[in-house]
Amino acid sequence: MCGIVGYVGSNLAYPILIDGLKKLEYRGYDSAGVALHTGKALEVYKKEGKVAALEDYVYGKNIQATVGIGHTRWATHGVPSDRNAHPHYSNSGNIAMIHNGIIENYAQLKSELVQKGYTFASDTDSEVLLNFIEDIKINNDCSLEEAVRIALKRVVGAYVILLIDQDLPDTIIAARKGSPLVIGIGNNAHYLGSDASPMLAYTKEVVYINDYELAIVRPDELILKNLGNERITPFVQKLDIELAAIEKGGYDHFMLKEIFEQPQTIFDSLRGRLDAEHQHITLSGVDKIKEKLIHANRVIIVACGTSWHAGLLAEYVIEELCRINVEVEYASEFRYRNPIITDKDVIIAVSQSGETADTLVAIENAKKQGATIFGLVNVVGSSIARMSDAGAYTHAGPEIGVASTKAFTAQLAVLYLIALKVAYEKQTIDKTLFNKLLGDLAKVPQYVQDILEEQDAAIKEIANKYADARDFLYLGRGFNFPIALEGALKLKEISYIHAEGYPAAEMKHGPIALVDENLPVVFVATKDSYHEKIVSNIQEIKARKGQVIAVVSQGDNVVAGLADDVMVVPQIHEILAPILSVVPLQLLSYYIGINRGLDVDKPRNLAKSVTVE
Ligand code: F6R
Repeated sequence: MCGIVGYVGSNLAYPILIDGLKKLEYRGYDSAGVALHTGKALEVYKKEGKVAALEDYVYGKNIQATVGIGHTRWATHGVPSDRNAHPHYSNSGNIAMIHNGIIENYAQLKSELVQKGYTFASDTDSEVLLNFIEDIKINNDCSLEEAVRIALKRVVGAYVILLIDQDLPDTIIAARKGSPLVIGIGNNAHYLGSDASPMLAYTKEVVYINDYELAIVRPDELILKNLGNERITPFVQKLDIELAAIEKGGYDHFMLKEIFEQPQTIFDSLRGRLDAEHQHITLSGVDKIKEKLIHANRVIIVACGTSWHAGLLAEYVIEELCRINVEVEYASEFRYRNPIITDKDVIIAVSQSGETADTLVAIENAKKQGATIFGLVNVVGSSIARMSDAGAYTHAGPEIGVASTKAFTAQLAVLYLIALKVAYEKQTIDKTLFNKLLGDLAKVPQYVQDILEEQDAAIKEIANKYADARDFLYLGRGFNFPIALEGALKLKEISYIHAEGYPAAEMKHGPIALVDENLPVVFVATKDSYHEKIVSNIQEIKARKGQVIAVVSQGDNVVAGLADDVMVVPQIHEILAPILSVVPLQLLSYYIGINRGLDVDKPRNLAKSVTVE
């Protein structure tokens, strides 16, 4: 998390940095700051709060500089405050630095520096690293580049750092390990960012920097080196994202825009892959590891948060269709618990950002033990995509709203394709079911469009009715259970209402004690093999005066007759129902958040790309 930007060129740096920070605010918004090289001196401006607060603060101050770096923070070491905001000055005041990541051995480095007389203006690990670099530079009488290289050999942790030096008026020094860094190549200018969004307005040519690489960036020059001081030829790639894709396009919020983009993003994720007419699925990533998948001992799905929910649904689907053992793991647990992994295991890493630290390290460990890694990632060129042996991109486009919506349904769409393709190759699915599922999957974009057009107004009213509730319970069975979890997570994130997702039948073993006339219970109750059972669960809630909101299939009068409020979705094969059921729940969370006057695009304490563990 944390967003970093940089600019070296011949234009004013400040407007470019501010615009870039606004695009990266989804990565953290506890504070923001910039450091500008005016040609004579370094000016640092920083402020607690969002980028807008920084802009107010800088108004009227000197911004005459064509070189600068900027940072938007998600706090790890030290509370959100002006003093802990980045950039930091070194003790001499000659160097300014921004950092995304965590320096794990900062305490030891700090005590060494304190003994040497260094003082610290913040509580951050970042300021320790900066002074460590400065100390090396002074003691070795070397260049900043050399000092950074020496320092990083001793650093434990994850980082992207950008530094500017009073004595180098046209240079940014950058380095990465474990956090993302992209450098855009402009016309006598270079742009740096945590992702490509800050540079999209200026260039489509970018270089993704790898771990343990160091960049010396000047207007007309990009020098890339490894930590052994050997030059590396930058690999220039062409971006195929348009600027419009990262703007709100007339919607009040990115979250709403992204919910409404889903017919297109699901379509884009299926396009060129699903051919329902000729009953064929093309997925080159699956072809690449086909034998491994067909003969896999286990498929282990590793992910966090919403992506983990997509993985949980994939477990149900892959086991049902492919008859392969599947385990779904929270990446943060998996990486630390010494799991038994063999070269017969296939790991599917699911990640929107492709940068989630826990997921990244989990697959790194599994790879070392011989497992084959398949990455299902949204951000092209991200770390997880690059570390995978094979993979497939979800084509959801840039997701800016901090709460994941369109990336989730795109993940489901591609996971369905993977399961169907493997089942077909493994001959564990009969032709009639295969054709039926392909046909239904092809209809999903239109069905999602129908839900958005027909249910939006009704869901807004339901949201207004329940917006003051203190707690919510979300229940679902079978394929819809992961959607109950996802619905509850979305509501927590966006509305700050406590919500729990549970398997509908498991509710009797505890959570039913919560039920009274004040508790809204959301049932994901589309028509499936468990329908009668979930009807009984609804009766159990109604018998205890709970208020029932149900996601129902079109024409289901039974649940509609029992529930206080319904959100209707088209009837589809039960395996595919979750990709529709989640859409009303996304809207419900959005409208409850709006009703409560909250910043739905930037919920408190969250950040989109969790690059710290
Ligand atoms: C929830 C949400 C998070 C992410 C999680 C994993 O709305 O967005 O729970 O799903 O942080 O992120 P990725 O998918 O980027 O690995």
